[in-house]
Amino acid sequence: MERKANVFNYKTLDDLKEECARLDLKLDFSDDLEILGREAFIREGCVRLPNLLACNPMEGCDGETDGSPGRLTFRRYERQAQGGTGLIWFEAVAVVPEGRSNPRHLWINKGNAGKFEELVTHIKQTACEKFGAANEPAVIIQLTHAGRYSKPGGRPEPMIAAHNPYLDKAQKLDPDLTPVTDEYLDDLREKYAEAALLAKKAGFDGVDIKSCHRYLVSELLSAFEREGKYGGQFENRTRFLTDTISSVRDTLGGHMLITTRMNAYDGIPWPYGWGMDREDHSRCDLSEPLKLIGILSDMGVRMINITMGNPYYNPHINRPYDKGAYIPPEHPLTGVARMVRGTARIQKAYPEMTAVASGYSWMRHFAPYLAAGTIEKGGASVIGFGRESFAYPDFAADILYKGGMQKNKCCISCGRCTEIMRGGGTAGCAVRDTAIYQSAWNEIYGMKGRD
Ligand SMILES: Cc1cc2nc3c(=O)[nH]c(=O)nc-3n(C[C@H](O)[C@H](O)[C@H](O)COP(=O)(O)O)c2cc1C
Repeated sequence: MERKANVFNYKTLDDLKEECARLDLKLDFSDDLEILGREAFIREGCVRLPNLLACNPMEGCDGETDGSPGRLTFRRYERQAQGGTGLIWFEAVAVVPEGRSNPRHLWINKGNAGKFEELVTHIKQTACEKFGAANEPAVIIQLTHAGRYSKPGGRPEPMIAAHNPYLDKAQKLDPDLTPVTDEYLDDLREKYAEAALLAKKAGFDGVDIKSCHRYLVSELLSAFEREGKYGGQFENRTRFLTDTISSVRDTLGGHMLITTRMNAYDGIPWPYGWGMDREDHSRCDLSEPLKLIGILSDMGVRMINITMGNPYYNPHINRPYDKGAYIPPEHPLTGVARMVRGTARIQKAYPEMTAVASGYSWMRHFAPYLAAGTIEKGGASVIGFGRESFAYPDFAADILYKGGMQKNKCCISCGRCTEIMRGGGTAGCAVRDTAIYQSAWNEIYGMKGRD
C-alpha cells in the first residue's frame, strides 16, 4: 500500500494533544500566551528583546550580485519589522565571495556595508514607528560560508571540510576533491572578524557565527576523519568555531553580542555527523554539543540558537513538513518534538544562556501554545519561527496583541519557498504572499506545478 504523509488536520488543540499522546511525545502546551510578551535581556552585548518571539533566519536569495541587499530583501525585512517579534535573526550572509550559496546570496564587504546599514536602520525605524521605541527588535546577523553547498556563480563549486560518503553521494561529489586547507581556515577566521566589524558598524546588535545545517563550520564539527588541527578529536573539530568567536570578540572589543546557530543533531551516521548516537543515528546523543556549548558559555557566550538536520539531505529533520519533495520517514510531530526536546536539554543544562528554539512552523496556529508551554517549563528562552516569517510575518503581533494566530494566514509547510530557492529564484511564500512568489514558483515549475 502506498505510504501517505501525516498531514496536519487537527481541528482543535485537544486533537493535537491527543496525537502527541498517541505518539508518546511529551510536549508542553500552555494557554498563557502573555508569557510570550515578556522581555529578555542578554548581558553580553547588553541586548534587550522586547518579547520572546523571533523570526529565525530565512534566506531569500534576492541580493544584488555585489552581495548587497536588494529590493525584495528590503521588502522581506520591512514585513518582518512590521510583524512585532522581539528579535529578527537576519539570514545567512557570506563572509567571502567563494562561500556564497547562490549568485544572489548576501555577502557583506567594505564596498556594500552601507546598504546593510540602510537596511538595519529601516528595520528598526519601521518597527519603532509601528510598535513604539520600547518594542525595537534586536537584529542579529548570521555570518556564513556555504562550504560544500557553495555556488557563487550559480553552479556547484563545493568547498568541503572533509569527505562524507552520505553527503558526497547525494551531491555526486568528485571523490578527488581536496578539502579546504588549514591555512584557508586560518585566513577565513579573520574574514569572519572583518565581516563582524562591518556588521557592527552597520548597526546589527549581534553576530552569529553560523554552525548549522552542514555548511562549512557545521561540517567541521564532525570532521572526525580530517587530518591536522581542525579534524579528529573534539578539541580540533570545534577549534574553528571557538577560535573564530575569540577573533571576532577581539576585533569587536567585547561590546557586542556574539552567538552561534548550531546544529545539535545532524541525523547522519557516525563518524560523519554531529550529535548522534554512534550505534543508531536516528537517536540524538547531545554529549558533544552540550560539551561545546559549555565551553562557549565559559567563553562568555550568552545566546545560542538551536536547530537540527541538513536542508539538502534530511529536510524533514530540519523543517518538519507534510507536503514536499518526498514523504518524510517520520511523523512531522516527531521532528518538532526532537527539536523542542533537544533545545530544552541544552537550555536546562545552561540556564544562563538565552536559547532560541526552532522548528515550530509546522504547528500552524497551535504553535503559540507550544511556545508558551515550552517557555513556562524552562525549555527555551525565545521561540523562533522560520517559514512562518515568510508566510505570516505578523504572527507575533497577532499572538501578542490579538490573542493568537489566524489559521488562514499560517504556513502550510508545502516546501515551495525552498523549491523556488533550489530552482534559482528569489524565495518567499508562494501560498500566502502570492503577489510576488506565486509567479516566482510558476516561472520555475510551470503553471501545472510539480505534482
Ligand atoms: C527558504 C528557507 C530559507 C532558510 N534560510 C536559512 C538561513 O539563511 N539560515 C538558517 O540558519 N536557516 C535557514 N532556514 C531554516 C529556518 O531558519 C528554520 O530553521 C527551518 O525552516 C525550521 O523552522 P520552521 O519550522 O519555523 O520553519 C531556511 C529555511 C527555509 C525553508
